[in-house]
Amino acid sequence: MSVSASRIVWVTGATSGIGRACVAKLVARGHRVVALGRRLERLKRLLEGLPEGALHVAACDVQDIDQVQQVYQDLPPAFTPVDTLINNAGLMLGTDNFDTLAESAMRTMVMTNCMGVLHNTSVLLPSLKASARGHIVNVTSIGAHHPYVSGHVYAATKAFVAHFGASLRPELASQGVRVTNVAPGRVETEFQSVRTGVSGPATAPAGNAVPTLGADDVAEAICWALEQPTHANVNAIELVPAGQAMSFR
Ligand SMILES: NC(=O)c1ccc[n+]([C@@H]2O[C@H](COP(=O)([O-])OP(=O)(O)OC[C@H]3O[C@@H](n4cnc5c(N)ncnc54)[C@H](OP(=O)(O)O)[C@@H]3O)[C@@H](O)[C@H]2O)c1
Repeated sequence: MSVSASRIVWVTGATSGIGRACVAKLVARGHRVVALGRRLERLKRLLEGLPEGALHVAACDVQDIDQVQQVYQDLPPAFTPVDTLINNAGLMLGTDNFDTLAESAMRTMVMTNCMGVLHNTSVLLPSLKASARGHIVNVTSIGAHHPYVSGHVYAATKAFVAHFGASLRPELASQGVRVTNVAPGRVETEFQSVRTGVSGPATAPAGNAVPTLGADDVAEAICWALEQPTHANVNAIELVPAGQAMSFR
């Protein structure tokens, strides 16, 4: 890839799953990456074996805009100006109906999935605009478009992000910033263990295996959207396992 085609990409939620897969693919393609997450030890492991200047990592809770701002201010010069933002950090908490959901779980989902996206977008937007080839990718969910039982708050947060991205795109169209929403179906990551509070891979009853995508599948779709010529905007991608009939299984 030519140096002019390489990007400086800010990836939230890079310690696991889709975000971590994005980091690996982007670095392998010659882009410089800023990888964020709360678990610094995991972020440091991403640096192993990489050449100097390929990856910058920083601990950051996206719920707190001051932390996002601080990471941005502390960026080494080689990682500026950021031209690409992947709003990926997110989580679902709880497996039951809404009336059983703790208020703390509601708050964490809204603060992470909604406010986290707003925090990162507002801090990075001046840099994305100044780059004249900015790109924002929001990782939403098919739950944003296809309601399902027990989706309630999580699905609503993803509908918020999808609508935010779709509304931002025309606003930024004349300012050299593209916006893409990526809505995955079920992906095999730590998402389910975070959701249930039970660590380890999700187990399905015998004969009832749940079809899943790999994190790499979603990361590949994100890279494809980023690498389209700058006159083309991929508005939205909905990517589900071929065997997944509904949003919930
Ligand atoms: N897996 C699926 O089936 C699926 C389907 C549709 C959409 N998605 C979406 O895909 C995105 C990535 O999820 P995943 O499947 O890759 O799950 P994952 O493996 O659990 O990864 C989630 C990432 O988000 C980060 N994160 C969570 N809360 C954060 C916070 N407050 N501040 C900073 N980072 C935070 C986590 O890092 P730390 O814990 O280290 O902070 C982790 O790196 C999410 O937005 C999720 O909603 C997933």
